[in-house]
Amino acid sequence: MPRPVPVIRPRRLRQSAAMRSLVREHTLRPADLVLPMFVREGDEPRPISSMPGVQQHTLDTLVAAAAEAVERGVGGLMLFGVPEHKDALGSGATDPDGILNRGIARLRAELGDDTLIMADLCLDEFTDHGHCGVLDAAGRVDNDATLDRYAEMAIAQAEAGAHLLGPSGMMDGQIAVIREALDGAGHHDVALYAYTAKYASAFYGPFREAVDSSLQGDRRTYQQDPGNAREALRELELDVAEGADLVMVKPGLPYLDVLAEVAAASPVPVGAYQISGEYAMVEAAAANGWIDRDRAILESLLAFRRAGATTVLTYWASEVAGWFQEGL
Ligand code: PBG
Repeated sequence: MPRPVPVIRPRRLRQSAAMRSLVREHTLRPADLVLPMFVREGDEPRPISSMPGVQQHTLDTLVAAAAEAVERGVGGLMLFGVPEHKDALGSGATDPDGILNRGIARLRAELGDDTLIMADLCLDEFTDHGHCGVLDAAGRVDNDATLDRYAEMAIAQAEAGAHLLGPSGMMDGQIAVIREALDGAGHHDVALYAYTAKYASAFYGPFREAVDSSLQGDRRTYQQDPGNAREALRELELDVAEGADLVMVKPGLPYLDVLAEVAAASPVPVGAYQISGEYAMVEAAAANGWIDRDRAILESLLAFRRAGATTVLTYWASEVAGWFQEGL
């Protein structure tokens, strides 16, 4: 039997950088990337040991790092607050002088109106028990009492100057309640970037350090079960019906299948959040010399685009945008 000679040769399209570039289906731009940032009270920024290169900023270092990211062309900034004092209701979240609201206002004042400022809309950074909502007498997260707090928080963030709010608490009905509160206060232009399919994940580990979280236990009564995909489509339907302008899937790499399904079904733009644990894993492997850091970062970001994400939240956003500026 003569050996068959391949007639169809897919390798023809891989033979040179020019050919690969010509046929590449998915690419990445700095404007696709959103940079999550942390701001704390006080005069000293603090490094986050499990996220090398990421810090809890002061208001001043926040502005400087944000300005650099914007200059490099990132698509937006997502701000998280790390308050000095926490209480059961998460009072700092709705106080106009709370650190997150002050951070939003500073960014808006110093970066101008063209830089998209997003804010995490959730109570966990502000509560002493560390849950994303307020608790009932039995110590369970009280869905509807939490919605009232989210409505107030949304107005505080809109008044501070946020362009997009990112409700990340996974309470039922949160998008509708927040939309109604914003519209009632005249903030029709403030958009909602809904954390639509958010899973109860071990990969949030380093984030707990990042926001000095005091959480005992877990978030399994409100975040989704990692075994479920169908549920993500239900959450999508609800969030879109309630008025979400963009929807997000989170975590990122372990949930690319969910991202692809949500992207296929969604009538609104879809984002992915490459979370703290994903960041930490690549940084740790790279620090050990086990992985080519920069290539791994770019490959992971491209994977989100291939799976259907329009925007990607990543702690590497500013650095990667800088690579493009230098002519990646
Ligand atoms: C909740 C929130 C969390 C993250 C973003 N928003 C923590 C959680 O749900 O436990 C995690 C982000 C990350 O791990 O990078 N406010």
